[in-house]
Amino acid sequence: MPNTTLTTGKQRGRRSWAEPWKVKVVEPLKVTTREQRERAIAEAGYNTFLLRSEDVYIDLLTDSGTNAMSDYQWAGMMLGDEAYAGSRNFYNLEAAVQKYYGYKYLVPSHQGRGAEHIISRVLIKPGDYIPGNMYFTTTRMHQEMAGGTFVDVIIDEAHDSQSLHPFKGNVDLQKLEDLIKRVGAEKIPYVSVAATVNMAGGQPISMQNMRDVRALCNRHGVHIILDATRAAENAWFIKIHEEGYAGKSVANILRELCSYTDGCTMSGKKDALVNIGGWLALNDYDLYEEARNLVVVFEGLHTYGGMAGRDMEAMARGIEESVQDDHMRARIGQVEYLGELLVEWGVPIVVPIGGHAIFLDARRFYPDMPQDHFPAQTLAAELYVDSGIRAMERGVVSAGRDPKTGQHRYPKLELVRLTIPRRVYTQAHMDVTAEAVEAVYQRRAEARGLKMIYEPKYLRFFQARFEPL
Ligand code: F0G
Repeated sequence: MPNTTLTTGKQRGRRSWAEPWKVKVVEPLKVTTREQRERAIAEAGYNTFLLRSEDVYIDLLTDSGTNAMSDYQWAGMMLGDEAYAGSRNFYNLEAAVQKYYGYKYLVPSHQGRGAEHIISRVLIKPGDYIPGNMYFTTTRMHQEMAGGTFVDVIIDEAHDSQSLHPFKGNVDLQKLEDLIKRVGAEKIPYVSVAATVNMAGGQPISMQNMRDVRALCNRHGVHIILDATRAAENAWFIKIHEEGYAGKSVANILRELCSYTDGCTMSGKKDALVNIGGWLALNDYDLYEEARNLVVVFEGLHTYGGMAGRDMEAMARGIEESVQDDHMRARIGQVEYLGELLVEWGVPIVVPIGGHAIFLDARRFYPDMPQDHFPAQTLAAELYVDSGIRAMERGVVSAGRDPKTGQHRYPKLELVRLTIPRRVYTQAHMDVTAEAVEAVYQRRAEARGLKMIYEPKYLRFFQARFEPL
């Protein structure tokens, strides 16, 4: 049995945190039986993306679009100006992005990948290389569809689930410089820097590293495009772990971080505390003009980009709330709480604990299972059957196939992500989750692995189907 005595902050030698909000509306959850869950996961082809949400008890599939909005945001929804052009809410959103992220020009998009599509089309030519601090699925897909090749230039520690480096999201400057020397700066339209790095376990990049990347890029005339999806969370880690930042606010740190980049793509569905929305922001007028022109083709007019006026208002207000230190302390504190329980109980997870999720190390759950039997996919299915908790595979299925060779890409990290939606679940839900994971870990010897029986061409993890071996 897990040792459940060490749950309060006081017993860990520090004061407990609590959420800086109280609950106003509740959404009932359905509790299912093990038999019902066995049937549901088989019908879903052992892919948690294909489960019906009503069959899920605690939904940790993603922190994307799953946020609980505040009363202030909901009040803003009533102030939606649904004009086709020039909505008042667009100008409020533009002002919020300029104030908190510091970029000059805003191109709204329906979500992050809409912005990734536009920037990839604007900047990438066939044959180009796009270095980045580890890939993200949709980001790399758009870079490849524009004719580019993604090159991983993250530090080696990021690929090691046990390295305790505090900034595992850092760019390896040597790897970046070597690439520039090898292919030439003119073949590198921009460096794609994510903060925090989702696929590495929600790991942050340090301010110093960002400054160094800027200096290197300046020497070679290369742009930097930030994936700002969880950059406010990254700012919190800089505040806690980087010298000189303890006394600065998340808002100030975020602005400084962005100031070293030429623009950003954003999935507002994460940091910005909304259910839908995103943007592309740029400082260069000519690039902005081209992006603004393209957005009309793919997303919608440049003053809504696929969002309703009310969505833009909710996001403008969400940005303001997302950079409050109290909010961030509770948000990351909850993730840490779950992670610390699992560490205490000896369950293998990625350390240090990241910003938006706990990543279970499926390789160490199932050391004898070959990667071709999809250990992380197996673990996510096992966890659902045990408890009704829905997690997500982040291993060989997510990595997809190499477009040139057609072979599986075998990532070093074979992970299952327990992603924590913002302001949605309580500490009791975290306790239930930790106990369910521990139970699956105890029964790890029984897991048999899976066989893929249907594989879509693009972003296969969303829709692939499996069968037990
Ligand atoms: N960049 C990062 C780092 C992301 O995590 C995501 C989405 C995107 C870009 C794309 O944004 O979904 O709004 O189009 N991540 C989700 C996740 C899907 O579950 O991690 P989007």
